Amino acid sequence: MSLLELADVRKHFGPVQALDGVSFAVDGGEVIGLVGDNGAGKSTLMKTVTGVHAPDGGSIRLDGTLLNGREPGEIRALGVEMIYQDLALARMQDVASNIFLGREPTRRLFGLPIRMIDRPRIEREAAAMIRKLGARLPSVDYVVGHLSGGQQQSVAIARALTFNPRLVIMDEPTAALAVREVEHVLDMIRELRRQGIAVILISHRLNDVFAVCDRIIALRQGQVVADQPIAQTSMNEVVAHIVGAA
Ligand SMILES: Nc1ncnc2c1ncn2[C@@H]1O[C@H](COP(=O)(O)OP(=O)(O)OP(=O)(O)O)[C@@H](O)[C@H]1O
Ligand SMILES: [Mg+2]
Repeated sequence: MSLLELADVRKHFGPVQALDGVSFAVDGGEVIGLVGDNGAGKSTLMKTVTGVHAPDGGSIRLDGTLLNGREPGEIRALGVEMIYQDLALARMQDVASNIFLGREPTRRLFGLPIRMIDRPRIEREAAAMIRKLGARLPSVDYVVGHLSGGQQQSVAIARALTFNPRLVIMDEPTAALAVREVEHVLDMIRELRRQGIAVILISHRLNDVFAVCDRIIALRQGQVVADQPIAQTSMNEVVAHIVGAA
C-alpha cells in the first residue's frame, strides 16, 4: 500500500472541470514534482488532499484511510501538511513564536490553576527543530518579517515539521527566491526525504524539480499527462507534456 493514493479524483468549479479523473500514488520518503501550466489544476488537486476542497468524485487515501469528507484539521492530524505560497506566517512575531503559532506549549504558574505560555520550552524546541532541518536562521527570537524569503520558507517548513507529518506539500516554495536560497530550500527537501517524509513539490521551475525530485507528475487541463521517474525523462519531454505537444 502506498502512503497516498488518488483514484479518479474529480472536481469542477461551475463549468470548469479543474480535475478530470486524477490517479496516482506516492510512497513514504518519495519526492514528487507536480508540474503543469497555469490553471492545470495543481493547487486544486492538493487542496482536495488537504480537505480545503471536497472532491466531486474519486477517492483519496492516506495509508488506506479515506480522506474524502474529512475536515482539514483531521487530515492534518493524520499527517498531511501543506505550505502555501504566501506561507501564512505572522511577520511581526519572532521565529520561535511562528513555529508554534496557535499551539504554544503552556506550563502552570507556581502550581496555580493558571497556564502560562512556556517560552523557554518554545525556544528550546524551535531551536531543536531548526537544527534538525539544517535551516540557517540567525536566532529563534529574530522577527520573521526581517528574514529573507528563503529563511521564511525554512520557518514555514520547521512549523510544518512540528506536526510530525508523513507528507508535506509545498506550493511554489522557490518561486521568489535568489539562487543560493533555492539551493538551501532544496537541501531541506532532501532532509525531509532522509527522514522518510514524502514531499509533493508544486513548481514551475523545472530546474528545481529535476534537481530534487524522484518522480515527476504533469497535469494538463485537470488530467495526468505524465507520471515518470526523473531519471527516465528530460526537461524537453516534460515541457512537451505540459503544453500538450507530446
Ligand atoms: N475556488 C475556485 N473557484 C473557481 N474556480 C477555481 C477555483 N480554484 C481554481 N479554479 C479554477 O480551476 C482551474 C485550476 O486552477 P488551479 O488553481 O488548480 O491551477 P494551478 O495548476 O494551481 O495553476 P497555477 O500554476 O497558476 O497556480 C482553473 O481554471 C481555475 O480558474
Ligand atoms: Mg496554483
